[in-house]
Amino acid sequence: MRVLGIETSCDETCVAIYDKNYGLLSNNVYSQANLHTDYGGVVPELAARDHVCKIVPLIKQSLVQAKVELSDIDGIAYTAGPGLVSSLMVGATVGCSLAYALQIPAISINHMEGHLLSPMLEEPSGIQFPCIALLVSGGHTQLILASSIGQYKILGESLDDAAGEAFDKVAKLLKLGYPGGDLLSRLARNGVPNTYVFPRPMIKTTNLNFSFSGLKTYVANIVKCSDDDAQIYANIARSFEDAMIDILVVKCRCALKLTNLRYLVIAGGVSANIELRKACTKMMHLMGGKLFCVSPKFCTDNAAMIAYVGIMRLKAGGVIPSRGLSISVRPRWSIESL
Ligand code: KG4
Ligand code: ZN
Repeated sequence: MRVLGIETSCDETCVAIYDKNYGLLSNNVYSQANLHTDYGGVVPELAARDHVCKIVPLIKQSLVQAKVELSDIDGIAYTAGPGLVSSLMVGATVGCSLAYALQIPAISINHMEGHLLSPMLEEPSGIQFPCIALLVSGGHTQLILASSIGQYKILGESLDDAAGEAFDKVAKLLKLGYPGGDLLSRLARNGVPNTYVFPRPMIKTTNLNFSFSGLKTYVANIVKCSDDDAQIYANIARSFEDAMIDILVVKCRCALKLTNLRYLVIAGGVSANIELRKACTKMMHLMGGKLFCVSPKFCTDNAAMIAYVGIMRLKAGGVIPSRGLSISVRPRWSIESL
């Protein structure tokens, strides 16, 4: 059984092929970062147009790398949401059309579920349920109670900016490129810790929501009053990253304690952050629990996680071959309503 996965929810065109027995056969990510960098963020119209140019060549390339033909594919999994509507439409249109032409199932996948289950790409025995999942990406920051595959409850989420968005905005203030999370984290390594004490909003409450916009504004004011100096910028990056990680870790600990659970998943682009991974590993060690996360290349957007969830759906049965061409996407699709 083989699934071709398509992910075009934001600014990466991704195609992967996953085989039930042999695992990942090919995984291609085309990043549009250069296209958007001058704007300091994703321009939806440009993103969609670029997906149109890249998607078919990427499918062909993935088939060649996987050494399979289209006739060897048993299902097409595509991200149907959440994400940018025009970008989602490109992947959904290509995915559904291909499935219709091949008379195989078109499987709509929730992007956040893809992230949540991504550690299973590398963990042979899978994630242990029930668990708490911290989903941290450019568009979302959510704490989820995952009872089993497909059963998710949002315990808390960001009331304003997402964690990745906060990293990107502060990176922009520090004149780094876009997306800035990884660049900021690299700069922070040269920073002196505790040069600044940045606020950690909402960590004193047992409420599991987050708020990052106040922290971002605080940093913006510090940058405004500082000299344009490499060491000062590194110190700011370090104090900002430390504050972000403190907030994320405190909230995870709180969710684990409230639910009496000992398994934690961290997933989404920000989970590539080395300091966050270290801090969560330490916390889970102290709590006698286990952390599940995936290699950084699978933390950021990819189609391997989408193809993988597609395989799970096909294995579970009840997915029927595409009978007609009805194409729809769900830009605000909540992981709770799968
Ligand atoms: O999951 P993702 O690839 O896309 C969305 O679904 O949004 O997440 C992208 C986000 C960006 O905001 C990026 O700056 C952030 O993940 N990111 C990081 C790191 N690598 C990527 N943030 C902090 N540290 C990193 N190493
Ligand atoms: Zn994502």
